Amino acid sequence: MRIKTLKAKIIKNSRNENTIQITINKKFKASVPSGASTGTHEVKAYKKTAKYAVDYLNKHHDHWKNKSFDEFYDLETFENLNLGGNPILALQLTTLKAMSNNKIYKYLNPKSKILPTPLGNVIGGGSHTKLKSSDIQEFLLIPKAKTFKERYLANKHAYKEIKKKLNTKKLTDEGAFIPNISTTETLDFLNNYLQDKVLGIKINLGLDIAASEFYKNKTYNYKNFSKSNKTNKLKKQEQINLVNSWISDYNLKYVEDPLEQEDFRGFSKLDQRALICGDDLITTNIKRLKSAMQQKSINSIIIKPNQIGSLIKTKEIVDFAHSHNIKTIISHRSGETLDSSISHLAVAWKIPYIKTGIFGKERESKLKELLKIENEIKA
Ligand code: PGA
Ligand code: ZN
Repeated sequence: MRIKTLKAKIIKNSRNENTIQITINKKFKASVPSGASTGTHEVKAYKKTAKYAVDYLNKHHDHWKNKSFDEFYDLETFENLNLGGNPILALQLTTLKAMSNNKIYKYLNPKSKILPTPLGNVIGGGSHTKLKSSDIQEFLLIPKAKTFKERYLANKHAYKEIKKKLNTKKLTDEGAFIPNISTTETLDFLNNYLQDKVLGIKINLGLDIAASEFYKNKTYNYKNFSKSNKTNKLKKQEQINLVNSWISDYNLKYVEDPLEQEDFRGFSKLDQRALICGDDLITTNIKRLKSAMQQKSINSIIIKPNQIGSLIKTKEIVDFAHSHNIKTIISHRSGETLDSSISHLAVAWKIPYIKTGIFGKERESKLKELLKIENEIKA
């Protein structure tokens, strides 16, 4: 593939923030998301601003004109650009789309056959809303079914039923409900709802606690803990005990960031019958994954390509994790665009889980792309 034209422009993400979109050869487009509960160790999304990156790329587009891209590792070309993680990633994804004629998954892995399980964000709070909400950032639905389509439909149906039961229209940045109930009441409510199968499918519960967001002065500060006990301040060991009791009582299959982002040792004390997942703890950074593995902190990691600002490094950490029996979960960000590249990467790199919302066009674009890929693979 040869680059004939390269254009950058500003678009708005789902939170109405500026982000970058690249177009190559007039036909291939990619854009990148931004986080709200970003980890301290993430690369900066923009060295200056999205606007600065867009202007720079439009001024220097000649630099890439007539360059040809023949294989995945040619994308390394973009990595010495000093514009921040998001511009690099947008350039790499657009180029990959152009190289593959928009079929990234097939181009990277012609034999790919496995579709990920969606972790669907159904109720939420924390830093994903300004409204009074649960202390936990995301309550996630994990359906167990053979095909992606069945998993997708089960989550969608559960979302609609939960909406009726909660009778609320308030939504977080990721399209999850914000009911006016406490953290423990939310756990009880969902646990109760999920006792019955949905469309004949068992759905398990998972959480993204995003604990760094409410960790201050060595305590986990709950503001909306339970009906009788609104505020609750927990020391590290109390937080570990609480999360372990939730894992048993609610049969949690997945717990992301149950402790603050520097506590590698604390993570190792959590009940690994559930997937104990590092997001802010690892920030898609292989060095941090290696530290975590030495201390047996986790058995799974979140993969967010823009946390590390490089598609090459993202592939490296995915391969490393898989060869060391660490499960991977590729994830959207709270401020999303319509881009569905992560769906393709999940299939290409055999990533077993994808975390997205269930509702909202930016979330559904990822899910619908996977439905399309499943159909293509089956055909
Ligand atoms: P973010 O949150 O995209 O706002 O960082 C998502 C997450 O914590 O998983
Ligand atoms: Zn997270």
